[in-house]
Amino acid sequence: MYLNVYCPRLGFYIYKNFMLTSKLSFWQCEGKRMMLYFSKLIGDNEMSQKIDTNRRVVLAERPNGLPNKNTLKLEVSEVPTSGMGEMLLQTSYLSLDPYMRGRMNDTKSYAEPVKLGEVMTGQVVAKVISTKCDGFDKGDYVLASSGWQDYALSDGVGVRNLGNSPDNPSWFLGILGMPGYTAYAGLLQIGKPKPGETVVVAAASGPVGATVGQIARIKGCRVVGIAGGADKCAHVVENLGFDACIDHRAEDFSEQLKAACPKGVDVYFENVGGKVLYAVLPLLNAFARMPVCGVVSWYNLSGLPEGPDFGPAIMGTILRMKVKVEGFIIFDSFPQSLFKDFIRDMSEWLASGKIHYKEQVVEGLENAPAALNDLLVGDSFGKIVVKV
Ligand SMILES: NC(=O)c1ccc[n+]([C@@H]2O[C@H](COP(=O)([O-])OP(=O)(O)OC[C@H]3O[C@@H](n4cnc5c(N)ncnc54)[C@H](OP(=O)(O)O)[C@@H]3O)[C@@H](O)[C@H]2O)c1
Repeated sequence: MYLNVYCPRLGFYIYKNFMLTSKLSFWQCEGKRMMLYFSKLIGDNEMSQKIDTNRRVVLAERPNGLPNKNTLKLEVSEVPTSGMGEMLLQTSYLSLDPYMRGRMNDTKSYAEPVKLGEVMTGQVVAKVISTKCDGFDKGDYVLASSGWQDYALSDGVGVRNLGNSPDNPSWFLGILGMPGYTAYAGLLQIGKPKPGETVVVAAASGPVGATVGQIARIKGCRVVGIAGGADKCAHVVENLGFDACIDHRAEDFSEQLKAACPKGVDVYFENVGGKVLYAVLPLLNAFARMPVCGVVSWYNLSGLPEGPDFGPAIMGTILRMKVKVEGFIIFDSFPQSLFKDFIRDMSEWLASGKIHYKEQVVEGLENAPAALNDLLVGDSFGKIVVKV
């Protein structure tokens, strides 16, 4: 299929005989600007969700470092038709999460990598468009893992029905979903914070870190966040109620962190690794706990990092300070019953205003690749979701 894009404002064809079925490649900064430029010129119609085509973002190439213009490609295909026992889902919101970078690598992990040519993996909130599937009605919103695309078929397995008019549907991708549960389970089951203890967490304005810190405050701890930049740090203290927040980009970051933790650190909730980990290590108290949730500062490494070898300092501290270090993957590491406790507690904390939630909504599936890169380098602010 060929596309002619005529711009009435400019009075000429921007594209003639443009092959629509060919893969549109995405490229980080230029891509975002060009897509915005073209969507403005052509009246925001050509790239938005349509009922007769399915746009799917596929993994075209495995990245070496940060994903680039060749990593993800937008394809256009037919909307699938549901058969018996199936339903057709239309994506409303797509969640962007740091784990997606790991799925682009063909390495051994807790989950299979995305195959080349396959739709990028991702959790979505979607609407049921048609259904021959028990337990789901037309118009229901669902939480599904159907990835970066407009439409998908589902047999209902592993799909959560959110009903036909959930409040804040996108929150099920954040504070009431995987990131919120990660914070709750990792902190309470592994970190086991006690009143009066000091809890440190980085990526403190993001969905996991922000929730960790606020729960630790509810549990009576001193909470020190670490974030990138003055705006994020101000938000963490003023809106989320942390006791302090240190900018990891500051030259005297380690000294500031030490000053903010006068009684040392009892729980370090590990989200980023790298220099934040190295700054926290000397502050750990005896019998400190370290839930290892993520190491996002290392996700784009294509080899070992440059600089001194911190192996001896890390293992020596764990030994001498009797630190309990435990990695976890949220849906493998805890009993299923804990999720119910999480929903009960989190719903109560949100309703009573004890927990605040910040979301950043990116418009359009076509902008998802650039937004994922923003997330990986710290240019997002709050839980990032794409309104498809
Ligand atoms: N184990 C599990 O089951 C599980 C589940 C969910 C999430 N996670 C992990 O939890 C962590 C947080 O996830 P999230 O969804 O809440 O992400 P997020 O906070 O929205 O995004 C990651 C943040 O990491 C920070 N960052 C990036 N590079 C950094 C660097 N070099 N040094 C310091 N900070 C850096 C940035 O914040 P600043 O600008 O503030 O630095 C960035 O915004 C990630 O590591 C993720 O992989 C694990």
